[in-house]
Amino acid sequence: MAKLQAIRGMSDTLPDQSLSWQYLESAFQRIVKRFGYREIRFPIIERTELFKRSIGEVTDIVEKEMYSFDDRNGDNVSLRPEGTAGCVRAANQHGLLYNQQQRLWYSGPMFRHERPQKGRYRQFHQFGVEAFGMAGPDIDAEILQLSASLWKELDLSEYLTLQINNIGNAEDRSRYGIALTEFLKSKAQQLDEDARNRIYTNPMRVLESKIPEVQQALQGCPKLQDFVSEASQEHYLALQGLLMRANIPFIENARLVRGLDYYNYCVYEWTTESLGAQGAVCGGGRYDGLVEMLGGKPTLAAGFAIGIERLVLMLDSLGKIPEEVRKPIDVYVLVVGANLAEQALELVQRIRTEFPQLGVVSHCGGGKYNSQLKRAFNSGARLAVILEREDTGSNDLKNAKIRRLEDSKESETVEIANILPKLGEFLQNSGS
Ligand code: HAM
Repeated sequence: MAKLQAIRGMSDTLPDQSLSWQYLESAFQRIVKRFGYREIRFPIIERTELFKRSIGEVTDIVEKEMYSFDDRNGDNVSLRPEGTAGCVRAANQHGLLYNQQQRLWYSGPMFRHERPQKGRYRQFHQFGVEAFGMAGPDIDAEILQLSASLWKELDLSEYLTLQINNIGNAEDRSRYGIALTEFLKSKAQQLDEDARNRIYTNPMRVLESKIPEVQQALQGCPKLQDFVSEASQEHYLALQGLLMRANIPFIENARLVRGLDYYNYCVYEWTTESLGAQGAVCGGGRYDGLVEMLGGKPTLAAGFAIGIERLVLMLDSLGKIPEEVRKPIDVYVLVVGANLAEQALELVQRIRTEFPQLGVVSHCGGGKYNSQLKRAFNSGARLAVILEREDTGSNDLKNAKIRRLEDSKESETVEIANILPKLGEFLQNSGS
């Protein structure tokens, strides 16, 4: 029978790869803890209406990319294409947003039926942070400082550029939309079909088109900056001031409008050149109207989400995952000869108790000395402990051998009674 394969665009994360993920996950968790953010978990499936109302009916995500279906009750549900909508729904449902400030984070799989390519998948994973009840721009600066701290922690700062833009509020954009629609109507001949379809539905998305002819036609188009309200502009300028004070370089990108409808005021994106076409690693902004749109009280809000696969790709390709992360096993115990299982089990457990930070594996399943040693080398362990049945006639093991696996072949026979302190000495002398 043919081997079954995973669905296109949905990847398995194999054990070696998982080490990179864990490295990134623990860095992220350290940073959010340092900034006082708390974790929230919410379902992977929600009512489709939630995403339609928040992300917007006329967006690529809702129009073309959602995994939506009727469940057995006939309710139309969707796999979440992003986390903000579910986070707001959950926080609102449980009263976390009522007259309160919240700093929340989440992580997990998201689903979008896009055309898969390097850095773009149909199941992908995000870390997100969402802050509620704060007017900004201090909270926007804090959120960007949080992301900048993560890049620093991962030694990626020099590869990431922060782009920011001011997109005003819904009213500003609707006035701008009217002007932009008029302009695009006059250029309809030069636009591709997709852009032409968007003239009346979502004209601002035409600005993000990557087609050179469309970009050519956009020259001289009305600028959103001429339509944004004074309050939005003040917020934006104050944010820039805070970023400069915090030493977070940025560039302004007037074309950055983001693919989700809920944003207002400032939007941001961290991009890299090192991933090819899918260069956006992190995106976000303010979304002060969303909580109310989903049935809550008006609540100020801002946040971002990071694409985990893209960040892992960066870390791997730039060689930024420390070597020791790749070696989760420190001590490999060889068990050579019959009837040693009990002693091995007991000794290994003593080693684990004495050195709880180490990975300690005991060879299971028997086999010759040489083949066990080979497995010990392959495991990446620094040290081997060799338990070998002696010809003393006694059932107790008196001695064991400790052997270095990394650089030298140095080994020493030690009394079992003395093995823990000896192991400690060997570990101390073996670098990491
Ligand atoms: P987004 O820009 O749609 O924003 O996604 C955030 C990040 O997720 C992107 O920058 C990218 O790294 C990653 N990403 C998106 N689609 C894919 C894909 N198909 N494959 C791999 N990675 C992908 C949001 O999702 C908003 N909820 C962010 C936010 C939070 N805004 C406010 N709070």
